[in-house]
Amino acid sequence: MKVDVGQLDDFSDGEVTIVVANGREIGIVRWSDDVFAVANLCAHQRGPLCRGSLSPRLESREPGAMELAEGAPVIACPWHGWEFDVRTGRAVWDEGYAVRTYPVQVENGRILLDLAPRRQAAR
Ligand code: FES
Repeated sequence: MKVDVGQLDDFSDGEVTIVVANGREIGIVRWSDDVFAVANLCAHQRGPLCRGSLSPRLESREPGAMELAEGAPVIACPWHGWEFDVRTGRAVWDEGYAVRTYPVQVENGRILLDLAPRRQAAR
């Protein structure tokens, strides 16, 4: 089921905006040319994940080569700091933990969410 959550231009780049779609609080992350959607429910103790802060993920392919992955936003939960990759919903420190993410399409400038969950919390 696709749900229209608003006009793309109304969402600020580099920020998370919480919307309510079919009774679910979902954070919409506009990140350069990409848009992601993640449930506002932390996998740790069900905190308000999407009220946390966003930053690019740090990655490294070899020792001494750590760099910011600008296309990979991470959101940090405001309660205890668990960090999740917004693209996959997986926790950065242990991919066995995950939050729900939702497929996003942008059509005619509108953001459409598919509310069938992409991933379930793994633990
Ligand atoms: S509830 Fe999110 S880190 Fe604890």
